[in-house]
Amino acid sequence: MNRTAAVTAREAAAKIRLEGVRKTFRSRKQGDTEVLAGVDLEVRQGEFLAIVGPSGCGKSTLLNCMAGFESVSAGSIRIDGEEVRRPSPKRVFVFQETGIFPWFSVWDNIGFGLQGLPFARKHEIVMKYIRLVGLEGFERAFPSELSGGMKQRVEFARALAVDPDVLYLDEPFGSLDAFTRLEMRREVARIWQQTGKTCILVTHDVEEAVELSDRVAVMTRRPARIHAILDNAVARPRDPDLAEFRDLKDRIFDILGVERRV
Ligand SMILES: Nc1ncnc2c1ncn2[C@@H]1O[C@H](COP(=O)(O)OP(=O)(O)OP(=O)(O)O)[C@@H](O)[C@H]1O
Ligand SMILES: [Mg+2]
Repeated sequence: MNRTAAVTAREAAAKIRLEGVRKTFRSRKQGDTEVLAGVDLEVRQGEFLAIVGPSGCGKSTLLNCMAGFESVSAGSIRIDGEEVRRPSPKRVFVFQETGIFPWFSVWDNIGFGLQGLPFARKHEIVMKYIRLVGLEGFERAFPSELSGGMKQRVEFARALAVDPDVLYLDEPFGSLDAFTRLEMRREVARIWQQTGKTCILVTHDVEEAVELSDRVAVMTRRPARIHAILDNAVARPRDPDLAEFRDLKDRIFDILGVERRV
C-alpha cells in the first residue's frame, strides 16, 4: 500500500476524530481556566482506548466534550464525520457514581432507555443484557438490595441496552472496593469482546488501562494535550504479572512521572 492509500485507509477507519480541541472555562469570579490546549486524537471503530493523565488535567472535560455535554472553545470533534454538538443516545456514559434510579427495579432500570418499544421486544432486550452482565434472578430487585458491583453491572447493562455506538467510561470503578474493581475489570473486558463497542475509558489506574485497552493516551498536566499514545499489544486475556504487561505499565508511569515533576 502506498502512503496515500495507507492514510486514506486509516482515515476511513477513524470513528472519532479530534483536531486541535481547546477548552477554556470562563468565569467572572475565578477568571479563565484553560483546560485543553489542543488535543489531537483518533479513535478507531470498535477500539478500546484508555486515557490517563495527572489529576485535574482535564480528562473528564475531554470526555464531556466528546459526548457533547460540553462545547469546545476551538477545534473539532467528529464522530463518523459528523461534528459533535450535543449529547446523543448513540453515545452513552458510565460514571463512577452509579446513576441508576433507586426507585426502579433492575428490570426497569435496564429498560429505561427503551420506552416506546412493544413490551415483548423490550423484555427480550432487557433479559439479553441481564444475562450479559450476569444478573439473572435479580430482575425484580431494587438497587438498595444490590452490592456496589451489582449496581455497576446494572449501569453497564442499561448503557448497553440502547445499543450505543460509543461508550464513555469515566472512572467507572472508582467507588468499588479493590476486589470488586478487579472483578468488574474482567467483566468489562469480556463485555467489550462480546459486543465490539467503541469504548473510551478515563482512569487514574494504570493497571486498569493496560488490562483493558488497545491503546493508552497519556495526557499532559493542565492545560492538557496528549503527551503520548502507546499501542498495547499485550495478548488477551491479560495477566498483570507478565513482563510485557509490566513494561507497558512502567512506560506509562515514566511519562506520568515526567508530567508530575515539571
Ligand atoms: N464546569 C466547569 N467550570 C469551570 N471549571 C471547570 C469545570 N469543569 C472542570 N473545570 C476545571 O477544569 C479542570 C479539569 O477538570 P477535570 O474534571 O476535567 O479533570 P480530570 O482530569 O478529570 O480530574 P480528576 O483526575 O480529578 O478526575 C479543573 O481545573 C477544573 O476545576
Ligand atoms: Mg475526572
